Amino acid sequence: VIFDSSKEASLLVAQEIANLIQRKEELNEFCILGLATGSSPIKVYEELVRMHKEEALSFANVVTFNLDEYYPMHKNNIQSYYYFMHEHLFNHVDIKPENINIPDGSVSAEDLQQYCIDYEMKIKSYGGLDFQLLGIGRTGHIGFNEPGSHVNSGTRSITLDHLTRVDAASAFLGIDNVPRKAITMGIGTVRSAKRIVLLGWGVNKAGIIKNTIEGEVSPQVPATYLQEHSNTTFVLDSEASSEL
Ligand code: GLP
Repeated sequence: VIFDSSKEASLLVAQEIANLIQRKEELNEFCILGLATGSSPIKVYEELVRMHKEEALSFANVVTFNLDEYYPMHKNNIQSYYYFMHEHLFNHVDIKPENINIPDGSVSAEDLQQYCIDYEMKIKSYGGLDFQLLGIGRTGHIGFNEPGSHVNSGTRSITLDHLTRVDAASAFLGIDNVPRKAITMGIGTVRSAKRIVLLGWGVNKAGIIKNTIEGEVSPQVPATYLQEHSNTTFVLDSEASSEL
């Protein structure tokens, strides 16, 4: 779906999420949301916060699982995804702190593998993700599933691509400060979501959006695995869709 502006698109995506939260609330069920960081979802979070404040949208029945976190990374660090999510969403809505799940970038190296297995199990214990929000990196990564990621991969640690670290360099005041690793949900984790919405804004994403939508499904462009998902929508602005 192509919109003139990312703002207009973000309002509609936020409305879909709000509708899902309310539908689940009426059924007395948890709403399990997979959430993303980066610049792409910021306006969606802004709108959800507005709906909470002005339209009494409640997050009391919402459980969230974030896609990824740098590793190593302490949650108090302003570059952490923990910090980002609290700043843009969690500090401004009535979600219960115990319902927030973000991969912990401070677990020890020896506990990391088990930590990732437990994160994956916890998502499954809720019956999987009802909705997964995604951005896309210029390597074709979703979450931090870099080229080479397996279609059935689960939550795990991963080495970041050079291009991903280049794109993160300004936030870290230089590429040397960008962590080399991350924890990420897998392609399998993402694809098991009942509904997926990928956001793509701006001309910088036009090339990878073309490869993702029109290219062959391949581990070299992990986002192409979404072509095989039955309920995924790519929500784009006119610039990001300019090479389609
Ligand atoms: C990071 C995140 C991804 C995100 C990507 C794009 O790499 N791990 O989940 O999709 O950045 O970020 P942006 O939305 O800022 O373009």
